[in-house]
Amino acid sequence: MTISDYRSALVTGASAGIGAAVVADLCARGLTVHAVARREDRLKALAESTGCTTHVLDVRDTAAMDDLFGSLGVDVLINNAGVGRAIQSLPDADPADIDQTIGTNVTAALHAVRSVLGPMIERGRGHIVNVGSVAGLYPLLSGVYGASKGAIHLMSLNLRLELAGTGVRVTEICPGRVRTEFYDAAIDDPNLRHRFKETGITEIASEDVAASISYALDAPWYVNVARVELQPTEQTYGGVNFDPLEGRDE
Ligand SMILES: NC(=O)c1ccc[n+]([C@@H]2O[C@H](COP(=O)([O-])OP(=O)(O)OC[C@H]3O[C@@H](n4cnc5c(N)ncnc54)[C@H](OP(=O)(O)O)[C@@H]3O)[C@@H](O)[C@H]2O)c1
Repeated sequence: MTISDYRSALVTGASAGIGAAVVADLCARGLTVHAVARREDRLKALAESTGCTTHVLDVRDTAAMDDLFGSLGVDVLINNAGVGRAIQSLPDADPADIDQTIGTNVTAALHAVRSVLGPMIERGRGHIVNVGSVAGLYPLLSGVYGASKGAIHLMSLNLRLELAGTGVRVTEICPGRVRTEFYDAAIDDPNLRHRFKETGITEIASEDVAASISYALDAPWYVNVARVELQPTEQTYGGVNFDPLEGRDE
């Protein structure tokens, strides 16, 4: 199974950042791509530049997602829609922000997988790509976001077991810092947002993440790329601004 064996893909969170880059990449590779997000104007512009088919949908609307995703019969799901509300603090979090992050990053991601799997299993081929984060693998000072991406990590591992023998592959993509609008949507306070955004490092581009997804999709059928972890060269475990020599005299 390689990209040329897959005919169609569904990308959630397609109106910006990583999702938009994946749509462009998969369209350029000849797949029929269904792009899902809430902002209609962004999707329209994406359709004009890539030729994708667009669907305006909030992934937290489970019934609407079931109707649409269940009917498309796609070969590939890029489970990418995500937010970082309450990323800065669990103790100070607005309860609605916690619900939005878990509802989008975890609950909707599970429903998306459930709603596309039936036809994949029947055909004996398909690919689930879950966009997690290094925040799901290591503590990065965010209880809410870390919890949401930790759930994606274990969902991906368990799904591999549940789908053993079906021919459906599962890949978890764990990026570090990617240059997108993520923090603009995550943090309202301009000063705090500035502190989170201005890392002083060269961040990964969305296209780099899209390339790692293509690598997984393009592997032959007997290879399941289980996890891709990619970070900026200047980012290390423990945080974006971590400097191992900070505070040392010698
Ligand atoms: N940026 C990073 O540093 C980074 C690092 C690791 C992992 N990630 C993960 O990568 C994924 C993509 O993030 P990004 O960095 O590309 O951020 P982004 O530029 O803010 O894009 C997020 C996308 O998710 C969509 N979305 C959010 N809530 C939605 C909902 N309820 N229904 C449908 N679509 C929804 C947004 O579209 P609408 O607003 O139009 O609905 C947008 O297209 C997320 O899962 C994020 O957690 C990001």
